[in-house]
Amino acid sequence: KIYPVIMCGGSGTRLWPRSRKVKPKPFLPLVGDTTLFEQTLARCSDAGQFAPPTIVTGTGHLDHVEAQLGGTKARIVVEPEAKNTAAAIALAAWLLPDDAVMLVCPSDHHIADVSAFRAAADAAASLAMEDRMVAFGITPTQPETGYGYILRGDGLTGGFAVERFVEKPDLERATQFLAHGGYSWNGGIFAFRAGAFKAELERHRPRIADAVARSVKEGREDGARFHPAAATFSEIASESVDYAVMEETDRAAMVPVSMGWSDIGSWQSLRDARPADAGGNRMQGKVDLIDCEGVLVETDGPRVSAIGLKDVAIVVNGDDVLVTTMAGTQKVGQLPGAAKQ
Ligand code: GDD
Ligand code: MG
Repeated sequence: KIYPVIMCGGSGTRLWPRSRKVKPKPFLPLVGDTTLFEQTLARCSDAGQFAPPTIVTGTGHLDHVEAQLGGTKARIVVEPEAKNTAAAIALAAWLLPDDAVMLVCPSDHHIADVSAFRAAADAAASLAMEDRMVAFGITPTQPETGYGYILRGDGLTGGFAVERFVEKPDLERATQFLAHGGYSWNGGIFAFRAGAFKAELERHRPRIADAVARSVKEGREDGARFHPAAATFSEIASESVDYAVMEETDRAAMVPVSMGWSDIGSWQSLRDARPADAGGNRMQGKVDLIDCEGVLVETDGPRVSAIGLKDVAIVVNGDDVLVTTMAGTQKVGQLPGAAKQ
């Protein structure tokens, strides 16, 4: 069986004013009626394919996680502070049996085609059993600088060896990678055999590995929760798994998957993940539109009426109103309102 490891960490600011520190992106029903976290749990809850999940989260998110678990029996690892994904994944690796194949899943993505996801999980798990560090590869559509880029190498069963992994290149390099044609985006979903991940982390980031191992050894169990030792955990350097392991390892592999993936990184990608109405718009709440196209409007109160707009997002949340072009949605995090939340 595959052991899902669900990461619930950071708080994005680009979906302000809906996503806020007090209730961040994973815990909102952004696409459909359930939240991204609930959808992540549901994707990994086929008892034939998956073992019960391990959820790695911070104290700030714990209440949301427990409120949205439904009936899922999960082990919850409570990080004393956020140390990014290398440490978060390592906690799970040190807690699980060495031979467990972990499927590491972000909790804030949308995946339209769940059966394609599950098929890719099986392919990735087979490669992980051969001690490969396996990433899910997504066909890129634009030179996005917020993603990792994977250059495909030799063919393997169910995937490819990774020739090169480049995390968050600048725009110039991202543009070159797209023109080259041999690159995929890193989807942020990984499969590792726990023991193999530990070995690679020990090799490339021995200090993170050592501190995580000690914080687990000195940690304490509290029902379904596990608390790593805070003092030891605070020694850990904050680094993402992409830099700490995926860029460094020579055991990387990639499973290509087409599953309607979106990391819902902006109001524009959220618009694209939601089904459009007949006029090509997406509306939630009291909204009236005339002659609009490609417009996203959501309001939790006041009626919003608009005429003649194209590719614009309007979001009303309590006292905050955001109005932006789709092109501007990447910059929402720079707004003073989003920064202070
Ligand atoms: N528990 C825990 N603790 N989770 C964390 C932490 C942490 O300290 N930091 C981040 N996470 C969670 C986030 O909540 C998210 O679900 C996931 O780990 C990935 O972190 P992001 O901060 O969203 O990473 P990113 O989007 O910049 O980049 C990653 O994802 C891209 C695809 O969306 C990388 O893997 C890129 O290479 C990839 O292309
Ligand atoms: Mg992300």
